Amino acid sequence: KQEGLVMTPPMGWNSWNKFHTDIDEEKIKGIVDALVETGLRDAGYIYVNLDDAWHGKRDSLGWIQCDPVRFPSGMKALADYVHSKGMKFGVYSDAGEQTCAMYPGSRGHEYQDAIQYAKWGVDYLKFDWFRQDLVGAEGAYTLMRDALYSTGRPIVFSICEWGENGTRKWAPRTGHLWRTGGDIGAYFSESPCHEKPILWCIENNNTYRECAGPNAWNDPDNLEVGNGMSINQDRAHFSLWCMMAAPLILGNDVRNMTPEVLAIVSNREAIAIDQDSLGIQGLRVKNENGLQYWFKPLMNGDWAFCVLNTNKIPAQITLDWSKDFNFTDELSRRSTDFSNITYGIRNIWTGKNDGKTDKARTITVPGEDVVMYRLIR
Ligand code: DGJ
Repeated sequence: KQEGLVMTPPMGWNSWNKFHTDIDEEKIKGIVDALVETGLRDAGYIYVNLDDAWHGKRDSLGWIQCDPVRFPSGMKALADYVHSKGMKFGVYSDAGEQTCAMYPGSRGHEYQDAIQYAKWGVDYLKFDWFRQDLVGAEGAYTLMRDALYSTGRPIVFSICEWGENGTRKWAPRTGHLWRTGGDIGAYFSESPCHEKPILWCIENNNTYRECAGPNAWNDPDNLEVGNGMSINQDRAHFSLWCMMAAPLILGNDVRNMTPEVLAIVSNREAIAIDQDSLGIQGLRVKNENGLQYWFKPLMNGDWAFCVLNTNKIPAQITLDWSKDFNFTDELSRRSTDFSNITYGIRNIWTGKNDGKTDKARTITVPGEDVVMYRLIR
């Protein structure tokens, strides 16, 4: 795969969570404009990614086309528009003959599609896994990876195969990011349908911790912030994606957001934790009574720290740093060493400095919410 493309987790927007197959050129341009106007582009959200259903038919020579009614100006024009705003453009296809929504997939056309994407100016490909009975996953994704590579154009390769085919073994050398599970839904702890709730995604993604690193990220799926959960659930969801160095791909209608939602997804200090150049996925060091304690080592010797309260009611807890949280992370070989090091505490969601780690403190974590700190060396 192409080196150096996503040395920190990719950030952007994807059409699926909010719009499913209901996409067209005007809507996407509106999203692009909104990303600029809201400051989200400047906060780092630069990939604008179409998901399923942009496709028309293949022409008589097999070249894939976009839907001529919904995308009358064509994909090249849309890519140009995205690029003119200082952003990057992504499309979606499938390893099988069809996509999940029954549009043409890439099977048998991998190199031709890669060339077409490169001609259009595509910067990112999400590659789905419908009709997986047809081919072995590793081979299918390796084929598309090589096809993209052969174009010479830098194209991020996002594997969407849900972690079901030994993914953790081959995906890190094949994709720039790979889904670790099924589709996310805007549900916090329980879901009424096949879509996975946030807590499930966290649990599942955590089992992949050692697979991730610069240019190779675990993908617990796109964000559901702004898609109907409460503001505390949205904040907890976003915080954990940052703690896990997950891709931050927005999935809401950014043309129409509440100020609270915008404040969550544009929190620079939370984003900086996600985007830290060490690229180590956070570690859960304690999980009891519905309270999860997460640490993420950061480049300059700082740590990100987050308590997630999965209970519906508030929790009062005491943080006694040297007593409870002295540990060495085997993966990064970093130690907290609270007995010898005093860290300054920066509260990410209040934006305030908040004392030091030299003494214990009692805090309240609201139900289905977090308290998140940067511990400053
Ligand atoms: C299944 C994927 O997991 C989703 O993210 C989405 O891309 C749909 N397919 C589109 O049909």
